[in-house]
Amino acid sequence: MDFIEELHRRRTFGIISHPDAGKTTLTEKLLLFGGAIQIAGAVKSNKIKRSATSDFMEIERQRGISVATSVMAFDYKNLKINILDTPGHQDFAEDTYRTLTAVDSVIVVIDVAKGVETQTEKLVEVCRMRNTPVIVFINKLDREGKDAFDLLDEVEQKLGLKVRPLSWPVGMGQRFKGVYSMYEKKLVLFRPHGKQEEEDKIEITDLADPALDHHIGERDAAILREEVQMIEGVYPDFERDAYLEGRLSPVFFGSAVNNFGVRELLDCFTDIAPPPLARHTEERLVEPEEAKFSGFVFKIHANMDPNHRDRVAFMRVCSGKFERNSPYLHVRQNRKLKFSNPTSFMADKKTIVDEAFPGDVVGLYDSGNFKIGDALTEGEALHFKGIPSFSPEQFRYVNNADPLKAKQLAKGLEQLMDEGVAQLFTRDVDGRKIVGTVGALQFDVLQYRLQHEYGASVQYEGVNLYKACWATCDNEQVLKEFMQRRRRDLARDVDGQLVFLAESAWQLKTVQENFPEMEFHFTSEY
Ligand code: G4P
Repeated sequence: MDFIEELHRRRTFGIISHPDAGKTTLTEKLLLFGGAIQIAGAVKSNKIKRSATSDFMEIERQRGISVATSVMAFDYKNLKINILDTPGHQDFAEDTYRTLTAVDSVIVVIDVAKGVETQTEKLVEVCRMRNTPVIVFINKLDREGKDAFDLLDEVEQKLGLKVRPLSWPVGMGQRFKGVYSMYEKKLVLFRPHGKQEEEDKIEITDLADPALDHHIGERDAAILREEVQMIEGVYPDFERDAYLEGRLSPVFFGSAVNNFGVRELLDCFTDIAPPPLARHTEERLVEPEEAKFSGFVFKIHANMDPNHRDRVAFMRVCSGKFERNSPYLHVRQNRKLKFSNPTSFMADKKTIVDEAFPGDVVGLYDSGNFKIGDALTEGEALHFKGIPSFSPEQFRYVNNADPLKAKQLAKGLEQLMDEGVAQLFTRDVDGRKIVGTVGALQFDVLQYRLQHEYGASVQYEGVNLYKACWATCDNEQVLKEFMQRRRRDLARDVDGQLVFLAESAWQLKTVQENFPEMEFHFTSEY
């Protein structure tokens, strides 16, 4: 297979959901279809468990194991499918946001009973920012849940997605009989416990067909006919281009644990999901078909064992072919690096990869060279865009508790920030350092790692902040005045960019009103 064929058969995507909606179960079923795992449970055992929320060491340990599921690849219908794992635990939301920069499309899993939950809202917002194509899978139809039309409304309102159902449920919970796939024009009958048979899939091209009444009963057939008619009237026709541009999301219904609706989802996904997409850099658009290799690091995983300081940097290949032992330019450091054991991780298997194509993700062993967002190329100085930092939601001052270890602390903070554990801001007025995180757990992780890996100790002190927003202005005069008047609330991020530390939503609003020409951004890239 030549290079172009190889890259065109890649489909790289992520599955996102609020914890418990069924992401792990769905992932596992997809892997079973693809033959990547033989038994259920292989992925599940890597899951960060909810019960461990109070014990961050346990969570870190589990997260360490979850390196194994960072990228799950399998072949299906001559395509190579790469599923990038996104931690469901909300304290690692930032990891998930960043992983979303490395996918070409997304499947969102929603629990039919719970509807759209907060974590899903945040994650889909990140997808919308990037116009990522989204497929919605409504899960757990074997349980009583919300009305399907109400759910679609909720998805449109809360997630801001325009939807088009491509399958439709017949009943729900105890009365769940199956789904009608408008995409395949087939009725798929439900059998619990994943015991689906080929004959459960019945071709019904015209819903007036009496076979429908025969299979699901007259009453349900009448309801289905009416509802499908309503769907055709209310929702736009499905157009692949609209989906690819992130303007229309197809919706499927099923029950992952019962393996129901999963194959239909996968078959549609393989038909419509995009192959590796071009990536923006500050310099130019990088097309996957380009002969020269380029890629960027979107996630860094540190080893928790202090005797093994190595980390794994996950790099997505964006163009050209990545080859083991070839010298590549580390753009930020302006030096050549060679990788003798680039690795792919799959369930409990680690494999050295000799080559990788656009859409693939490679784990690179690293002793501290990489930072999130770093580019590797064959020589061109490219800087990939779209890998922003997100405004943290929790803040604390960090104080050095051991003055003799100031150097270690500075180094530790720098390296851990490179890994994306948290974000560091330095106040303009007094040089005090503030750590910002998405989840409270990260404070413990940071303190523990500084102590155990760098021998530095920190104490936290509360600081009352609502958001850190990156502040810019085209009008230099206004910027100067803003900086003079709000000096107390200003800080710099690790790259020296100006950040406004807002104490409350109200304060941010007032400042915005007082300085209408100033722009405040909730991500570091705008
Ligand atoms: P997550 O990764 O999104 O957090 O969710 P996960 O797949 O772990 O699923 C959460 C729970 O929901 C699991 O139950 C799982 O078995 C269940 N589940 C997943 N899909 C379905 C479905 O289609 N129908 C029903 N009824 N349940 C479903 P658990 O009790 O937390 O775990 P387990 O003991 O079953 O492993």
